[in-house]
Amino acid sequence: MNIAGSTALVTGANRGLGARLVTELLGAGASRVYATARNPHTIDPQVCSDPRVRTLALDITDQASVDAAAKAATDVTLLVNNAGVLGFGSALDGDLDLFGRDMTTNYVGTLRVTRAFVPVLAANAPAAVANVLTLIALAPVLPMAGYCASKAAAHSITQALRAELRGRGIEVIGAYPGGIDTDMLAGIEADKAAPEIVAGRIVAGIAAGETVVWPDDTSAHAGTVYVTDPLRLEQMLAS
Ligand SMILES: NC(=O)c1ccc[n+]([C@@H]2O[C@H](COP(=O)([O-])OP(=O)(O)OC[C@H]3O[C@@H](n4cnc5c(N)ncnc54)[C@H](OP(=O)(O)O)[C@@H]3O)[C@@H](O)[C@H]2O)c1
Repeated sequence: MNIAGSTALVTGANRGLGARLVTELLGAGASRVYATARNPHTIDPQVCSDPRVRTLALDITDQASVDAAAKAATDVTLLVNNAGVLGFGSALDGDLDLFGRDMTTNYVGTLRVTRAFVPVLAANAPAAVANVLTLIALAPVLPMAGYCASKAAAHSITQALRAELRGRGIEVIGAYPGGIDTDMLAGIEADKAAPEIVAGRIVAGIAAGETVVWPDDTSAHAGTVYVTDPLRLEQMLAS
């Protein structure tokens, strides 16, 4: 999709990857970017000073909030579902309330926002939805089992939406990063890519018409393993 001249909306734009996605979209020539957050006052004032940026309140778990955003941002051509949460815990020992929270946000919330914006995107087609998933949606790491399951559900619904929206001029893109150096993984020792690199590659992938984006070196390598031998990726990540 052509980013130049597009109108994008990014969820969870106040920090982490979402904040960098806003910057990259502006750098790629978007005409307008709706930077949305549960609390829009937490969005970087420097970003807000760009005349192309509009801030909006948007809690992806709250239907009234989502409906209000869809009513306010009627010119969107690119929806970037970035907002997400991560609760730690293994399949046997993890707190089920956290598992439920991750599912409500990462899966149901992403779908809720997408459903609300489909009429807007269809009216402005050609349009696109880009979902920020994760490499570990495709095979879990054990101490993040609930999060992985919520992202696996989001991956599956991304595929379902891709097929359902194909005839309506709306592309559906999945991005599958490895670890990113944001608050989400603070204090966790892991390979982490810089958020600006990941954001830049996601935006470049959307612009290049990629359906699946592997936006860092770790995910690009693991992606080739997944494509050729999914069981091997499962074994690699589980160990
Ligand atoms: N960090 C990683 O290693 C990694 C790897 C692969 C994929 N990802 C994915 O990348 C995306 C961004 O994560 P990040 O690393 O930037 O994490 P982060 O720094 O923790 O930021 C998460 C963002 O999501 C927002 N958010 C959470 N719940 C929300 C809700 N109900 N409604 C609206 N916004 C909500 C947060 O807003 P508040 O400030 O209001 O909490 C924040 O802006 C997520 O989908 C995550 O799963 C991250």
